[in-house]
Amino acid sequence: MRAVDIIIKKRDKGELTREEIRFFVNGITTGRIPDYQTAAWAMAVLLNGMTPRETTDLTLAIAQSGEVLDMSDVVKIAVDKHSTGGVGDKTSLVVLPAVAACGLPVGKMSGRGLGFSGGTLDKLESIPGYRVDLSTEEFEKQLKEIGLVLCGQSKDLAPADGKLYALRDVTGTVQSIPLIASSVMSKKIAGGAHAVVLDVKVGNGAFMENLKDAHELADLMVKIGQLAGRKVVALISDMNQPLGFAVGNALEVREAIDTLRGNGPADFREHCLHVAAHMLVLGEKTDSLEEARTLAEKSIADGSALEKFRQLIIAQGGDVSYVDDPDKLPKASLIKVVNAPRSGYLEQVRARAVGEASVALGAGRAKKGDPLDYAVGFVIHHKVGDKIQEGEPLFTVHANDEKKMEEAIASVSAAHTFNDFPVPPLPLFYA
Ligand code: URA
Repeated sequence: MRAVDIIIKKRDKGELTREEIRFFVNGITTGRIPDYQTAAWAMAVLLNGMTPRETTDLTLAIAQSGEVLDMSDVVKIAVDKHSTGGVGDKTSLVVLPAVAACGLPVGKMSGRGLGFSGGTLDKLESIPGYRVDLSTEEFEKQLKEIGLVLCGQSKDLAPADGKLYALRDVTGTVQSIPLIASSVMSKKIAGGAHAVVLDVKVGNGAFMENLKDAHELADLMVKIGQLAGRKVVALISDMNQPLGFAVGNALEVREAIDTLRGNGPADFREHCLHVAAHMLVLGEKTDSLEEARTLAEKSIADGSALEKFRQLIIAQGGDVSYVDDPDKLPKASLIKVVNAPRSGYLEQVRARAVGEASVALGAGRAKKGDPLDYAVGFVIHHKVGDKIQEGEPLFTVHANDEKKMEEAIASVSAAHTFNDFPVPPLPLFYA
């Protein structure tokens, strides 16, 4: 078999066999297939799609590119969650400690920034020392000891996803249902989750821009999970405006810590409680969503979720003094408040434009392996539907370069639109 023939077959809209998919994924893992062929193949998949059977084979091949953990000895029911990616989506940083503090252990493999969306691993690395590349032994030991792991795929766990993900980020091959479904579900399967809550984002700041595509992606991931013997729930949530207020690595960590301290933006807190409640029900902590939500609320109110987050940071080598004093987190040299140009009701805060502007400031990558600027990003001050007076703060930009800051201000100003008449707030969840 030759990689080039498999690329040509997909370019010409052919259906790949299980053997061809396994050959290709194996080549990505071992490095036998170079980046340029992988990128060409990913583009062919993006343009021509895959059947559900091909996507399932791709998912299992990626999951089996490393070890597939069996968590049965470690926890009764291993529950995991995954978001398909959004702007300001720092949910895992709050939900996981809250759920773990309720006595349900969570071991999660997260991702890095992808296109205009941020990544949990990049956010966590704004805390000095935090290690995302755990070995299998470390993963299992930590899950047993503190009931919480938040790491990345590694040479042991779903290594093919790591390589493919980094290439997709910078080759315009993110927005593909089979590539997203296989990337997400391979990590969940390899991580040994028995049950998974999927947070499928929809809107202009998500990879699925309409509800039809979001449902298609959700259904496909649920089916793949079920075929692999996992219990899966998919939620479809709004991503037309940033989640919470902060966008950018360290700014989001700060907002997550704030939320764990019982503060934080109302929409973000509500979103987290809803996801946490579904995880607690899947993990059989309780059978009612209301009761599960109360448990999660309590873990935030009594400080146990924050304490779990501290334990996580310590266990993975991070400097916990940054959690205790978030003022220590990386800070930009230029911080500028931009005021509303007019009065009116906020009609849109286009999440994608905010995400792209954040990447352009340095919070994301333009090329594989680019270093990140953890300090930069935005704090958006309002939600769609808010009544705003001319001259009041609209957003704050955090930058380390004058020219980039001016460009970012222009883009994010244009991302805000106003209406003279009342505008309804956006829902948090659609399904
Ligand atoms: N999260 C992932 O892990 N992979 C994707 O492709 C998108 C979101």
